[in-house]
Formats: sequence, C-alpha cells, structure tokens
Amino acid sequence: MPQQSTKSHLDLAVAPKRPEDCAVVIFGASGDLTGRKLLPALYRLFATGATPERFYICGAARSGMSQEEFRAKMRQAVENKGSDMTAWDDFAVRLHYQPVVYDQAESCRALAARLDQLDQEHGVGGNRIFELAIPPALYQTVAATLAQAGLAGEERGWRRLVVEKPFGRDLASSRELNQAIGRGFNEHQVFRIDHYLAKETVQNIMMFRFANAIFEPLWNRGYIEQVSILAAETLGVEHRAGYYEQAGVLRDMFQNHMMQLLALVAAEPPSLFEADRVRDERTKIFRSLRPFPTEDLYDYLVLAQYEAGEIDGQPAPAYRAEPGVAPSSLAPTFATMKVFVDNWRWQGVPFYLTSGKRLTEKLTRIVIHFREVPHSLFRRVLGEDIQTNRLVLDIQPKEEISLYFQAKQPGAQVALRTVRLHFSYQDQAAQQGVEAYEKALADAMLGDQMLFWRQDGVELCWAFLDPVLEACESCGDRADRLHRYRAGSWGPRDAAKLWPGHPYNYPVG
Ligand code: BG6
Repeated sequence: MPQQSTKSHLDLAVAPKRPEDCAVVIFGASGDLTGRKLLPALYRLFATGATPERFYICGAARSGMSQEEFRAKMRQAVENKGSDMTAWDDFAVRLHYQPVVYDQAESCRALAARLDQLDQEHGVGGNRIFELAIPPALYQTVAATLAQAGLAGEERGWRRLVVEKPFGRDLASSRELNQAIGRGFNEHQVFRIDHYLAKETVQNIMMFRFANAIFEPLWNRGYIEQVSILAAETLGVEHRAGYYEQAGVLRDMFQNHMMQLLALVAAEPPSLFEADRVRDERTKIFRSLRPFPTEDLYDYLVLAQYEAGEIDGQPAPAYRAEPGVAPSSLAPTFATMKVFVDNWRWQGVPFYLTSGKRLTEKLTRIVIHFREVPHSLFRRVLGEDIQTNRLVLDIQPKEEISLYFQAKQPGAQVALRTVRLHFSYQDQAAQQGVEAYEKALADAMLGDQMLFWRQDGVELCWAFLDPVLEACESCGDRADRLHRYRAGSWGPRDAAKLWPGHPYNYPVG
C-alpha cells in the first residue's frame, strides 16, 4: 500500500533540467512578437537560470539595425514588461543582430557564417533554435533558405525550427507548408507552438485528471452530461485586421487552441508522461471527432460579429469600423459550436466550444457538467430540480479549480444550497508560474515536444474544420446567418439557445 506522504509536489518534482548550450536565432527580430513576447520570455528564463550555461540570441530581420540599436530596442521591450532589470547587462552581451533578406540563400549563408563566429565567441557547440516570428506567408521561404544555406542539417549540433500559428489556412495549405518545411527539417526538429498548451493551468488539466484517483472514474458519459469550453476575450481585432479578415474566429481560435483544450479534457491517460505518448492520445481525440453535420450546420453552430458597445466603461467600435476591416465584412468574431467525440468514453456527450472577441470579460473556462442524481428522494420537499454538480477549471485570468455541490441550507427548514469547494493557484504565492512563452521556449531548448503540435494533429483538426468553413463561407445566406452582438456583452442570444451552459443561462460566478 502506498505510504502516506507529507511531501509537497515540489519536494517530489524532478529538478528542472538545464538545456544544452545553444543559440536562439529569431527571424522577425524587429517585429511585434519579438518585443512583446519572445525577448521578455528569454530574459526571464535567463534571469531565473533556466537558459543554458552558454547561450546567445541572434536577431535576424530585414531592417538594417546595428547591434547596439537592437540591444537598446530589446531593453525597452523588456522594461515595458515591468521586469526586474538586474540581470540585463549580463543578458545584453548575449544579444546580437544580423540583417537578412529572407528569400536569398546568400544572405542566409552570411547568417550561417556569423553564427559560426558567434558560436566560437560564446563557446556554443552548434546547437541552434530558429524561431519564426515572421508573417506566416514567409514560413515556407525562410524554411527553404535555411535548408539551402545548410542550417537545417544536424551534422554539427541539433537544429530546431519553432513555428508560430497559423499552420496553414486549411488542410491543403497546411500540408503544403509542412512539405516545404519537411524538405529541410524532420518532424523531431519542428516545434509548432500553441501558446494555450504552454499555459500553466492548461497543463494542470492532465495533472488534475491523472494524478488523482477520485475524478477519473467519473470522467465519462456515465456521469458527465456535457462539457463546455469557453475562451472569451475583451480585446477586439486590434491591429491584425489583415490576418483576421481572412481567418475569422474559427481559424484563429478553434482549429488550434479550442481543439487542444478539448483534447486535454477528453483524451485517454497516456501510459507515460512523455511527449509522443501524450501527443498520441491528443491525436486520437482529433481522429474521433464526429464529422460536423454540415447539412444542419446552424443547428450546431452559431457565428456572430460584434457591433459597437462598451467595455469597462470605454466605448468600443463595431468590428466593421475597426481599422483595416471591410465595411461589409462577414468575418465571424464569435462562435459557439456543438461537437461530439465518437468513442467509447464520450459517446453522446456534447462538447460546447465558444470563443469570441469583445465579450464582457476575459475568461477561459472549462466546465464539466455532471449528470443529475438518478433519483431524488427529496422531491416531495424540494421538487424535482436539484442543481447538478459542476467542476469548473478556470484557465485565465483567475487560475482556479472549483467543485460545486449541494449541501443543506443551515436552519430548521429543509433546503439545499449550492456550495463551492475551491482551489486557487494565486494562493500558492511562493511558487510563481511561468508565462506561456517562457515554457514554450524552455521546452524547445530542452527538445521536449509535448506541448507542441504534431503535424498529424494539425491535419486532423483542419480536416474536421474544412467542411465547416466551406459550408459557412459558400452558403448563399451567409450574411443572414451571421448574428450580431454588442461589444461588452456575452455574445448573441442565439448562442444561449444552442449551449445550455452559456453565461446568459448560467451566470458567470
Ligand atoms: C491568439 C489569437 O492565438 O490567441 C488571438 O490569434 C487571441 O486572436 C489570442 O487574442 C488569445 O490568447 P490569450 O493567451 O490572450 O488567451
């Protein structure tokens, strides 16, 4: 019998490994993503001792910029995050910059020579990460020039390519992209980021399910009535209209983040917490998705776009009035989708997936709605209705787990009330979580692909979504099918008709 342990999970955890010495080469180093996410994450990893003993960063972009200018720009970016700058000087000497022309092998060869020289300077033996923080239209070009310049081969150290979403805009283009990348890089070298997977509370879904004996026996169609997954944002399209107009919410959030959340809730336990076994189980869920009933599309799907409204007391413009958006745009900014997983465990259990921009609040939440009690012995005194149990996994901004159950209302009268058993990550103040990009970059340095997409998963999710996109985008009454909602609301009323757990039906607690 297992011994009782008073040790915390931290005592039991395996000490984090330090990655092997390597260089991180960022394509698109003068761009938004580098300043907003990548550099602050790398700096924090460095400041907390999570980078390799010997490592450096080489920014590469089209802009002509000196090393000093690059360092100053990056310092600003890191400062903007409110970081403690004590380690900056030490970090800054590891920052370099090389201008490149993305489609010229010659230019990439000059980069290769510079990297060889920097390897020597920093005592790094040839291991390299290439991070593509560039517009997706350039992924193929850069992957090809890297291969032509001999930068993809692993003869001298490992080479890893980190790719941001979107991985294509449909099945055909994702395959084409994969083939282009595959000319230089093998699957074990490709790290397709889904920053949702790298969120601490998302990772916790697996721990919660498989490190506790009491939930898993209930985690199936016998006890679960429905599952809902909500990713609500208050932000609008911001400055990304060029991309979003083409993508809409289904490509932007559903093909990737929502599918991964669904897979984590629904997957079978892998035999070991190891990258490919975990990814195999997630992939099996994608393979089990019931083909979407496109003939009755709108019985299972609600699409909508935001109108002008107000968020946090501030006026918010309509989507169509956002900069760069066509005045007659039909791009959906909100969707609720009812999905089924056709396997033994989940047969008949609906998964309601909802995501939208410009909603009331920022909230990513998974709710497991359990079934009703099979027989209510309280029906004479309380009527038939007893609130069902709910397990709420709050992913962000609050990081919490709550279990709702019924208890007796104190007092002489027989009455029930819903009470909440609650765990909050914030209460564990001493243990600061890592930000998603830190986790993703640290794992890429360690070569751990668990939290990254594998190509088979990407393709299965596109194969699921393609017919939906085609049906929505080609249907004659597309404009009439697109509902409207006020910015700052919880979305269109019709979503609440489709999804019983919608905040209009179940106020957000
Ligand atoms: C991105 C989408 O992948 O995720 C954005 O492209 C969205 O449109 C973002 O805003 C949401 O991420 P998070 O971490 O803020 O929930």
